[in-house]
Amino acid sequence: MSRLPKEPVKLVPVPSTNKIPERDIGQSPILECRHLGIDFGGLAAVKDFNMAIGRTEIAGLIGPNGAGKTTVFNLLTKVYQPTRGSILIDGQETSRMNTVQVNRAGIARTFQNIRLFDKLSVEDNVKIGLHNQIRYPMWDGILRLPSYWKKEKLAHESAMELLSIFGMEDLAGHQAGSLPYGAQRRLEIVRALATNPSLLLLDEPAAGMNPSETADLMENIVKIRDTFHIAILLIEHDMNLVMGICEGICVLNFGQIIAKGTPDEIKNNPVVIEAYLGKGNKGNKGNKKGGK
Ligand SMILES: Nc1ncnc2c1ncn2[C@@H]1O[C@H](COP(=O)(O)OP(=O)(O)OP(=O)(O)O)[C@@H](O)[C@H]1O
Ligand SMILES: [Mg+2]
Repeated sequence: MSRLPKEPVKLVPVPSTNKIPERDIGQSPILECRHLGIDFGGLAAVKDFNMAIGRTEIAGLIGPNGAGKTTVFNLLTKVYQPTRGSILIDGQETSRMNTVQVNRAGIARTFQNIRLFDKLSVEDNVKIGLHNQIRYPMWDGILRLPSYWKKEKLAHESAMELLSIFGMEDLAGHQAGSLPYGAQRRLEIVRALATNPSLLLLDEPAAGMNPSETADLMENIVKIRDTFHIAILLIEHDMNLVMGICEGICVLNFGQIIAKGTPDEIKNNPVVIEAYLGKGNKGNKGNKKGGK
């Protein structure tokens, strides 16, 4: 199985005092968060969150339940508007953007609790993601003009190609809601990829998967990065996965970053061990208390 990093990854500083892999240093980070924060009532769910992600980096966001990880994804995708700070996608300030605009600017995500169109086919779920790329003028569709069928053929071919990443072509006609849990998680990734992102956010992609599915997923996340030349930021409690494929890791606790670094630095950081990993638990599950 291919694994990153093959060589120890060197993280190097970028101007905002964040760090990205050395190979991405020639280009600006695909994502930068500066002093990002959000309050819910009196509670600061995320505080002074600073992070940069290199253009081909696989990065991890970890921490205990309730630390604020999913909230960070909701801020990045504008499900929530930040109370403080800024988010730059490929250097572009996003303060005026909504969820759709952020997706067009290059961020796609999956959800901790799967969100598919259960009653639609697997292929149609992917085609919804492709909507950003392939436009059907109204009259082409109503009148079923040749240009409509040409685009429909293109959408079908693109959907099948994307499904082939996970070997799911044979499932194209199945109802999404009828798929086993692991396959639904994989379909969510395919649908997100169909929007042609530069940065893919995965919220607990291995949740509910068995060890062999998780091992395949790890391989496929690396394959996706290598095939599409994109960055991936993942939230995960499975430390084998995080330590196996992430290059830069950011640890959140009570809404605040308590550590950043390479897998080796994070595994051996006493503050992270105390707050999350626990002693003798550096390569397995993080301290996830119960599922969601
Ligand atoms: N819309 C909201 N309104 C009020 N509080 C919220 C809201 N969304 C999140 N929170 C709170 O923010 C905190 C962080 O929640 P979040 O879901 O981001 O945690 P998490 O790190 O993703 O945890 P887990 O590992 O369990 O998924 C929690 O205390 C949560 O209750
Ligand atoms: Mg979460």
